[in-house]
Amino acid sequence: MGKRALAERLHGLAGFSEPDVSLEQYPTPPDLAAHLLHLADLQGDIAGHTVLDLGTGTGVLALAAACRDPARVLGLERDAEALAVARENERTVAPGTPVDWLRGDATRAPFGPNSVDTVVMNPPFGAQSGNEGADRAFLTTAASVATVSYSIHNAGSRAFVESFAADEGGLVTHAFAAEFDVPRLYDHHEREREVVEVELFRIEWA
Ligand SMILES: C[S@@+](CC[C@H](N)C(=O)[O-])C[C@H]1O[C@@H](n2cnc3c(N)ncnc32)[C@H](O)[C@@H]1O
Repeated sequence: MGKRALAERLHGLAGFSEPDVSLEQYPTPPDLAAHLLHLADLQGDIAGHTVLDLGTGTGVLALAAACRDPARVLGLERDAEALAVARENERTVAPGTPVDWLRGDATRAPFGPNSVDTVVMNPPFGAQSGNEGADRAFLTTAASVATVSYSIHNAGSRAFVESFAADEGGLVTHAFAAEFDVPRLYDHHEREREVVEVELFRIEWA
């Protein structure tokens, strides 16, 4: 399935039924999710591999991966309601590979070292008070369980991500900027939609 067909498959998926701002529940836009998974697949990181989506939410990244012939896909999320939506979304997408949906804390390294090939994630940015450093905790998990990871961060994160990866013996091999369309979800959102600048990174972990 090409990138455009993949994005079309992801359009129309259900979003968070009761989004929880304390968990920074923002769905990845379908075009951006398709772009990330397409790039990851071109790098040889999806087809035939075990893919883990950390903080899978309504499942968009896991489902995009599941459309690209992976050996296995796992979606880990702490919010049971979001996982229920992800299961519904799986019925809508009907990917070639079924997804194993798991409830748990992504910051507590749920698997052993090198137990998955590829982590994909749009982690909480740590923007909410009490949630500071959340993206760092997700990266720590990626470093401990995966060979390679793809993650979305807020703009201006490159120095932090490169230095974090280096400290863990990893290397940022690809970085690019993108726009993230955020619909009005929470009381503090003043506009119907807002475009947030983000950065995507591919990291090879030692
Ligand atoms: C920015 S949203 C991204 C959701 C989804 N991955 C996507 O791309 O549309 C971050 C997700 O991480 C989840 N989350 C936050 N903290 C978590 C934790 N400690 N363990 C597991 N999931 C967590 C949130 O509930 C939310 O679904």
